[in-house]
Amino acid sequence: MAASTACWLLFLPALLGFLGEASGGFDAGASRDDDLLLPYPSRATPDAGGAAVRTFVSHFGGRAVTGHLTRAASPLRTFSVLEPGGPGGCAERRRVTVEETALAAGCRVAQNGGFFRMATGECLGNVVSDGRRVSSSGGLQNAQFGIRRDGTLVTGYLSEEEVLDTENPFVQLLSGVVWLIRNGSIYINESQATECDETQETGSFSKFVNVMSARTAVGHDRKGQLVLFHADGQTEQRGINLWEMAEFLLKQDVVNAINLDGGGSATFVLNGTLASYPSDHCKDNMWRCPRHVSTVVCVHEPHCQPPDCNGHGTCVEGHCQCTGRFWRDTACSELDCGPSNCSQHGLCTETGCLCEAGWTGSNCSEECPFGWYGPGCQRPCQCEHQCPCDPQTGNCSISQVKQCLQPSVAPQRAAELSFFTRTTWLALTLALVFLLLISTAANVSLFLGSRAERNRHLDGDYVYHPLQEMNGELLAMEKEQPGDTHSPFKD
Ligand SMILES: *[C@@H]1O[C@H](CO)[C@@H](O)[C@H](O)[C@H]1NC(C)=O
Ligand SMILES: *[C@@H]1O[C@H](CO)[C@@H](O)[C@H](O)[C@H]1NC(C)=O
Ligand SMILES: *[C@@H]1O[C@H](CO)[C@@H](O)[C@H](O)[C@H]1NC(C)=O
Ligand SMILES: *[C@@H]1O[C@H](CO)[C@@H](O)[C@H](O)[C@H]1NC(C)=O
Ligand SMILES: *[C@@H]1O[C@H](CO)[C@@H](O)[C@H](O)[C@H]1NC(C)=O
Ligand SMILES: *[C@@H]1O[C@H](CO)[C@@H](O)[C@H](O)[C@H]1NC(C)=O
Repeated sequence: MAASTACWLLFLPALLGFLGEASGGFDAGASRDDDLLLPYPSRATPDAGGAAVRTFVSHFGGRAVTGHLTRAASPLRTFSVLEPGGPGGCAERRRVTVEETALAAGCRVAQNGGFFRMATGECLGNVVSDGRRVSSSGGLQNAQFGIRRDGTLVTGYLSEEEVLDTENPFVQLLSGVVWLIRNGSIYINESQATECDETQETGSFSKFVNVMSARTAVGHDRKGQLVLFHADGQTEQRGINLWEMAEFLLKQDVVNAINLDGGGSATFVLNGTLASYPSDHCKDNMWRCPRHVSTVVCVHEPHCQPPDCNGHGTCVEGHCQCTGRFWRDTACSELDCGPSNCSQHGLCTETGCLCEAGWTGSNCSEECPFGWYGPGCQRPCQCEHQCPCDPQTGNCSISQVKQCLQPSVAPQRAAELSFFTRTTWLALTLALVFLLLISTAANVSLFLGSRAERNRHLDGDYVYHPLQEMNGELLAMEKEQPGDTHSPFKD
């Protein structure tokens, strides 16, 4: 390799707590087949609840070292690589405390993640955060850890093509320095050769590997559970070296692991609260403060798969709750209109069955009502004489309805029918006119008669006719009243 080739060893300052800026000059390297481990299948357990966090105080070479080991089942759903301070953090080169990033994302457990440029805050290496590629290594070979869309865990050195694979893309990916454990064996010496083989850097890389410091790592165990490791320390005073970390992880059944940023960056946050002893001093030298770092590795409540439930639901505790009545499936990706499935006369949509022309009802099992046709039975039949039409096409020449006539026969019959009705109407009208005339004549004669009568009375003075005189019967009874002896009611 050219002398200008830089590996991440140059970012050791970030780890060692120096304030140095790395010199650039990345060289694109090809994937090395022998270094790429076969993807490790992740065995997702359905009840992938919270993370299991263990706290240790262990002796390494006689020194007591404190730290945490976290395991998380279903890494695909519970593990995320986060940009500093949320999405866009790498582009903005933000540097934020792990607590801040973890709180915003709701992490149960969070640690600092990949390396970064101390001076500029630039995220280094490949970073894929919840499916978004937010940083590129430019092909530089360093140990990587990621999860592909199908849940396989990938550890090792990746070519650009592998990183950009679209068939089964990475949903989470980050880069470290030194592949600590490869397929159940410590791989530090090989990593040193692979990740930086410049002779003049060997000394530094060797120091990087062997110095005691605070350390962090990410990997997976034999069960396919994600493993996060963190140990407190202070460069050259407290903590562990990479060999000690690798051996500790091996004893914990870890199969693959890469080393992440350590030193003053090493931070462990549990349920949103700092739970480690950072080595950086605060402004007041009396106290220690967590460093503002770049990417974060986060174990959270299980996300849904896909996290947005295909846009047709909301994710609640790792389960999609689909919107509407018709989205089904664990990912809200299928429409289900019930067992009848729109009766083969319609298409299931997110608002229910969309019936073909001529069919209606929630299951598209009913034909259009009499006199209507078309999509949604919205169109009235346009046939003559209120004849029904074909419910699909609106075609009027349907034969199965007996009272309706074929168009070939209809015109003649229609003419007959119209002639008949015209004659009927004429006769009716004539009859009515005749009746009206008779009625008028009768009225006129009555009117004339009464007028003659009235004229007779008005000739003399007003004439009074007692009521009795006008009622012959009453008059007759009154005339009999004086006798009254033989009344049948007086016995
Ligand atoms: C990983 O190790 C196992 C034995 O532990 C071996 O059978 C397998 O071939 C190794 N795989 C690779 C890719 O080296
Ligand atoms: C790693 O390399 C060092 C020096 O090159 C050597 O002493 C040591 O035995 C090697 N360790 C392994 C596990 O290969
Ligand atoms: C973190 O908080 C959750 C509930 O908010 C609780 O169930 C869990 O035990 C906490 N974890 C630890 C390690 O305190
Ligand atoms: C549609 O079909 C389902 C089941 O096949 C049934 O329960 C429902 O009553 C049907 N709806 C109508 C309007 O026929
Ligand atoms: C409903 O029918 C359509 C074809 O009309 C088919 O593609 C779909 O899979 C069916 N859905 C169910 C739930 O059977
Ligand atoms: C209406 O139906 C008749 C007989 O079924 C057919 O010959 C004719 O082409 C149809 N017209 C339309 C517009 O579909």
